[in-house]
Amino acid sequence: MRVNLTVNGVDHSVDHVWALESLLDFLRERVGLRGTKNACEQGECGSCSVYVDGVLVCSCLVAAGQVEGRSVVTVEGLAPDGGMHPLQQAFVEAGAVQCGFCTPGMIVAAHCLLAGDPDPDDLTVREQLSGNLCRCTGYQKILDAVYMAAQRPSD
Ligand code: FES
Ligand code: FES
Repeated sequence: MRVNLTVNGVDHSVDHVWALESLLDFLRERVGLRGTKNACEQGECGSCSVYVDGVLVCSCLVAAGQVEGRSVVTVEGLAPDGGMHPLQQAFVEAGAVQCGFCTPGMIVAAHCLLAGDPDPDDLTVREQLSGNLCRCTGYQKILDAVYMAAQRPSD
């Protein structure tokens, strides 16, 4: 099938998409955006988090055919000018990146959190990021980064 969609503001029209191909694989292999990570492919870890029409989803659980005509935003699209989003900068400064495998999904999920609640309390942050697993278990630094970013202007 052919799938037409917008990824990070750029139109794409891709032929020969497999009926059960995941949005995760589509983004990584067909669009060439490798920031979205494949860790569990079962909706358990949040490493593949992206926005579809502004809604946070696990892209491993979404079929590419389901995004026909929709708008997808990946971690690469959070700072359209090519620079770092304040959340990305905060992760660097807080030392919240170890192997980095969970980091893109954490940042997209934290972006969604702060978009809805710019000054979240501790419980809210922990609950909202509870679907994102860090195998390096650097959770405190990740929380520090989110609080740091919350104190800074964002878009
Ligand atoms: S790869 Fe999608 S939730 Fe883990
Ligand atoms: S930094 Fe390694 S999985 Fe989170």
